Amino acid sequence: MASENSRSASLAEIISDSTTKIEAYRKEEGLPPLSLGPDAPLDVKYPPNIEQCRRALIDASLELGDLATGPVELRLVPGWAVMTMFAVTQFIFDFDIAHRVPLTGDVSYEDLSKTINVGASVLRQVLRAGMPYHMFYESRPGYVAHTATTKIMAREPLIKDWTGLSTDVLFPGGAGLTEALRREPAANDPAKTGFMLAKGEGESGMYMYLEKHPEQARRFAGVMGAFQQDEAYAPRHLIDSWPNDVQNGKLIDLGGSTGTVAFALAQAFPGLEIVVQDLPGALEAAKVQEGKNVSFMPHDFFNEQPIKDADVYMFRWVLHNWPDAHVQRILRALIPSLKPGAKVIIFDEIMPPAGTMTLSVERNQRNIDFGMLILFNSKIRDVEEWKEVITQSDQRFKVTGVRCPEDSRLSLIEIEWQP
Ligand SMILES: C[S@@+](CC[C@H](N)C(=O)[O-])C[C@H]1O[C@@H](n2cnc3c(N)ncnc32)[C@H](O)[C@@H]1O
Repeated sequence: MASENSRSASLAEIISDSTTKIEAYRKEEGLPPLSLGPDAPLDVKYPPNIEQCRRALIDASLELGDLATGPVELRLVPGWAVMTMFAVTQFIFDFDIAHRVPLTGDVSYEDLSKTINVGASVLRQVLRAGMPYHMFYESRPGYVAHTATTKIMAREPLIKDWTGLSTDVLFPGGAGLTEALRREPAANDPAKTGFMLAKGEGESGMYMYLEKHPEQARRFAGVMGAFQQDEAYAPRHLIDSWPNDVQNGKLIDLGGSTGTVAFALAQAFPGLEIVVQDLPGALEAAKVQEGKNVSFMPHDFFNEQPIKDADVYMFRWVLHNWPDAHVQRILRALIPSLKPGAKVIIFDEIMPPAGTMTLSVERNQRNIDFGMLILFNSKIRDVEEWKEVITQSDQRFKVTGVRCPEDSRLSLIEIEWQP
């Protein structure tokens, strides 16, 4: 029995209980026990009760690990570990090691060294540094083979893109943060982020940088696509929370990319005529779909909105990329085109109040928020920050509702233009 004041003992109980339930479920389903070995199934979808146990297990083991590590080691070790994980991941990505190690079987350090033209001894040193973090393993002396976490890089182009984004974009961006803040203490200019300082100096911001780097733009779009595959970002959440009074009429989807969400909305509400607007480069891969009332139009949302008197102007998962002053400019650019009663719908991340999330969710949310800072000098706003930035754009924007659909990462903010 855990004593009342022992946090570690109650965490250990959660770990034991959750592990038992997860392993029992896997056995019932004919799945092997949890493993990161080369043959581990990559993507097990658990039913909600088991998924809840999995989340509890992650949270409890993270916290228990930290408690056992203690304050001194906790300060000293993770920075080093992160550096190792980052540099080894970058090495694997840049030399395309995941594709050069066979999916089944193994390859010798000697042979691998010849294919990538890096000395066998240093190759072994680098790969061995990644092995305690589950990246590759030595199947026999002198040979290296995949674990599940490296195999997925070879098998899934999206995971490869994601890895490249972390190593080429997020990490240099993070390393540039303090210098960026020295130069721009208010962190309110998208041209002066950690990333722009590290890689994009001279550009007005990340999206303009991507317009000039098509391969990186493709990768960025790929990663955004991967987010969308997560059920928590599925277009159905927007459809389920869509206001009843705007199911007919003209809808402008600003920053709507290639229209995935617009097509889903058009399917659900055939009475809507939808125009997707985005930067020209982002629209290059857009294709109209037969029978769906969706068209595309290049438009920079900092310029005055060319489509007058639409019923709804929507920003789905767009405005969290911009600092407050830019959000205000984007909203103000709509004003000359708004008829009284027009709706503006923002469907975006809302940061939950501090201290209300589990440890793993809090870390994930803060990672995303931090990513916004280093890439865009923006942030994930809480509900009050959203209301403030909207009404400071113009007092005639009235926030008439905020809805947080269950299981959705994005929430709906409904605004009415009341001149
Ligand atoms: C995170 S993506 C969201 C895409 C889409 N709305 C969705 O929900 O999947 C942000 C979008 O904003 C677009 N964007 C960035 N700057 C823009 C600008 N100045 N004018 C119009 N669109 C822009 C990007 O090209 C990108 O498609």
